[in-house]
Amino acid sequence: MFYLVLALAYVNLLTVRAQSSPPSSAPSAQSSVGSAVGSAAPTSSGAVTSALPPPATTFSFSLQSTNPTAAPLSEIVSGAPLSATQPLASTASPGATPSSIPNAPPLPDPATLNPAAYPPLDRPPPVDSPEVQQWKQEVANSGITIPGFEPTVAGGCPANPGPVADASRCWWTCGGCTRESDVTNCPDQMTWGLTYDDGPANYTSNLLQYLDQANLKSTFFVVGSRVISFPRTLQLQYLTGHQIAVHTWSHPPLTTLSNDEIIAELGWSRKAIKDVLGVTPNMMRPPFGDIDDRVRAISVAMGLTPVLWTRISPLATFDTDDFNIAGGIASVQQVLHNWEDIVGNATTMNSGFIVLEHDLFQQSVEVATGYILPDALAHQPAFRIEPVISCLNKPLGDAYVETNDNATNPPIGGGAGHTTAVVTLASGAPGSASATGAASNTNSGVSFAPSPLAFVAAAGLLLVAFA
Ligand SMILES: *[C@@H]1O[C@H](CO)[C@@H](O)[C@H](O)[C@H]1NC(C)=O
Ligand SMILES: *[C@@H]1O[C@H](CO)[C@@H](O)[C@H](O)[C@H]1NC(C)=O
Ligand SMILES: *[C@@H]1O[C@H](CO)[C@@H](O)[C@H](O)[C@H]1NC(C)=O
Ligand SMILES: [Zn+2]
Repeated sequence: MFYLVLALAYVNLLTVRAQSSPPSSAPSAQSSVGSAVGSAAPTSSGAVTSALPPPATTFSFSLQSTNPTAAPLSEIVSGAPLSATQPLASTASPGATPSSIPNAPPLPDPATLNPAAYPPLDRPPPVDSPEVQQWKQEVANSGITIPGFEPTVAGGCPANPGPVADASRCWWTCGGCTRESDVTNCPDQMTWGLTYDDGPANYTSNLLQYLDQANLKSTFFVVGSRVISFPRTLQLQYLTGHQIAVHTWSHPPLTTLSNDEIIAELGWSRKAIKDVLGVTPNMMRPPFGDIDDRVRAISVAMGLTPVLWTRISPLATFDTDDFNIAGGIASVQQVLHNWEDIVGNATTMNSGFIVLEHDLFQQSVEVATGYILPDALAHQPAFRIEPVISCLNKPLGDAYVETNDNATNPPIGGGAGHTTAVVTLASGAPGSASATGAASNTNSGVSFAPSPLAFVAAAGLLLVAFA
């Protein structure tokens, strides 16, 4: 058994982290890539550093196993030189169907996909298009009442004392409130509902290659703008038995949007997936986990079950923070320390669990394939690692409207224009809405704040690679 213990002083990045909490007001969507990255650089930290005692800056962790071909930790840093991307193992033939989904419709030909037929990438889609009008009608036809809460303002929990205090809103970001509609863990003990968000992107193929070798399947929460840029990657993910689900068009915090803007974000990403795969996903993950009863109701009305990640207390959320290595806000050592805490907590739970990880950046893929997944695979007793739909003990076909077994897995809402039973969002645990943990939960505030900024930076770099 391989045993690895590492530690690193990380003064500057921790200082940046501390400075970014509470989150400042809305990051300007117009900020250039340069200034977005610059704001995360420790240039202005001198005064703060000298005013504070040196923070506890050591992150230790131990791993049961690592990948012999892993990138060294010293290379999994912000600004690392680009490492090689694996070509896709194969490209799907138009008309193909995944062997794991009986009766799946034939795969569309990606050459027929016309990027000009979609909204501009990585920007909130307009709400006056015929498509959005149609999806608004779908929501209206669902019979589901959309609560009239005002959108929150950018800046997370500290910037929104009213919504935080209003338990009836059930805002997960600030306090961890969930409803029966939400998937936050897997039912069976020692079962990990594996997920990666924000792709498909350049390094997704490296992750797919590892998953394939390890015979692992995942759920991918994909961004519509990335789907248009990487349709062949998405097709391979789907054809090789991974689950595909919605993660919006341009990755905004959804509670800050109007109803129509939420509908446009979900609708365009659902449509992009349908156009590339021929099937319509029925699960979604809100960017940053930012969901309240208004966002829930709209998601459910569009036939999309919200999937979050496991949260057992304000300080134990199953977020590796891998997203923030690329932006220099978290170190790989910190991420692996978080991972060790997650494993420690997961093995004490009497249910399974879901962890937040990403495939958008080289760094998060390298920490997954080099360290987190090899460690998880070596864990004793063994984890069962599978897509969210599988961990819910449902067949893969149940993840899509067209192949869902409607008799055994009734659709959650009025998706696909069907008026079905009115779904109640009634809370399973209203007590979990208590704002007590919320105000002091700086963790959610911190992770909420820098991420949109980092995403803007990332999105700016991701040029359309449709070919
Ligand atoms: C659970 O996670 C928390 C922090 O997220 C950590 O302090 C604690 O040690 C973990 N528990 C176990 C049993 O590993
Ligand atoms: C389930 O219902 C949807 C929407 O009406 C339909 O498209 C799909 O074919 C149905 N599933 C099956 C297996 O018939
Ligand atoms: C992704 O790869 C393409 C070429 O394969 C390259 O042009 C592009 O810059 C890459 N994007 C990022 C964000 O690395
Ligand atoms: Zn995301």
